[in-house]
Amino acid sequence: MQFIDLAAQQKRIRNKIEANILNVLNSNSYINGPEVAELEQKLARFVGVSYAIGCSSGTDALLMPLMAYDIKPGDAVFTTPFTFIATAEVIQLLGATPIFIDCEKDTFNIDIGKLEKSIEKVKREGTLKPRCIMPVDLFGQCADYDEINEIAKRHGLFVLEDAAQSFGAEYKGRRAGSLADVAATSFFPAKPLGCYGDAGMIFTDNKELYDKLISIRVHGQGVDKYNNVRIGINGRIDTIQAAILLAKFEIFEEEIQLRQNVAEKYSTGLSKSVGVPFVKKHNLSVWAQYSILHPERDKIILKLKEANIPTAIYYPKPLHLQDAFANLKYKQGDFPVCEELAREIFSLPMHPYLEEKQQDKIIRIIIS
Ligand SMILES: Cc1ncc(COP(=O)(O)O)c(C=O)c1O
Repeated sequence: MQFIDLAAQQKRIRNKIEANILNVLNSNSYINGPEVAELEQKLARFVGVSYAIGCSSGTDALLMPLMAYDIKPGDAVFTTPFTFIATAEVIQLLGATPIFIDCEKDTFNIDIGKLEKSIEKVKREGTLKPRCIMPVDLFGQCADYDEINEIAKRHGLFVLEDAAQSFGAEYKGRRAGSLADVAATSFFPAKPLGCYGDAGMIFTDNKELYDKLISIRVHGQGVDKYNNVRIGINGRIDTIQAAILLAKFEIFEEEIQLRQNVAEKYSTGLSKSVGVPFVKKHNLSVWAQYSILHPERDKIILKLKEANIPTAIYYPKPLHLQDAFANLKYKQGDFPVCEELAREIFSLPMHPYLEEKQQDKIIRIIIS
């Protein structure tokens, strides 16, 4: 059994993927070929924003907006410690300071109740300048953007949505990627919409920001390619990856529905035995992961492994306890909710092609 069965998906659309790749080979347009603009237009429309900027990874899709807003040493960016390292890595890469906020026990997303207090504390202390809130839509469920945007407005901050895991999810009828000033997603192969390598995309309605991002994506280019106007990166998406994503996007909405079916079956079967995911009424999760909680996690994982059922732990060590962020001087006990989650959480196989009988087996083993 696969944790994420990319082969089953490929089998379905192999002809289309091959045809799309062949088109790129025939055109020899490997950088910024027409597939890139086509993908950007299609995904911007799907998300419901004016502009989409394809880029080299989800990490660069987070980094580039921070660069465009001139995030620098002395700036504070508020985010969650219960996420993949890329979220906070890009803040520190620019010399700014990640300020972690504990997460909610039920959704695992940033705890809004603690967010404003933390912003006020940083303001009071006066050493750092609050600039940005970076919520993460963990495991495919959106954070609470109406409230986050309100808080940001009150304090003059911008919001960068880390939608790396939530492309295709909905919040109050709006799509992930459209919920903040700017959003970043990832097309890492295991993501709900994944390519066959590294790629990502930025979404925004802000034309001025869009123009800056287009420049940052190619080494800070100006109107003239060899007169650069700012420091940028090589942040482009490969044409071949765009071509693959175009093929996969055709079946994406159907796959979102299939993911719902898988999640529902898990939750119905497991809710009496383990902690199952809680999705807020106004949210539609895209189930990047189906993660459950149990104090005896290791025993369950072992039993599943004996039956050749793969599992994964996202995330065994919250960011505030990782060596990479030792300079921030956080310690064990600073974020008790996420620390407890890290001890109990693990994820089950989750993809659109998981068969009912495979799920029955997983559920049976966990219950026993
Ligand atoms: C929450 C989150 N942010 C950012 C990223 C970075 O994306 P990428 O691996 O495409 O650079 C990931 C990828 O795993 C992620 O899960």
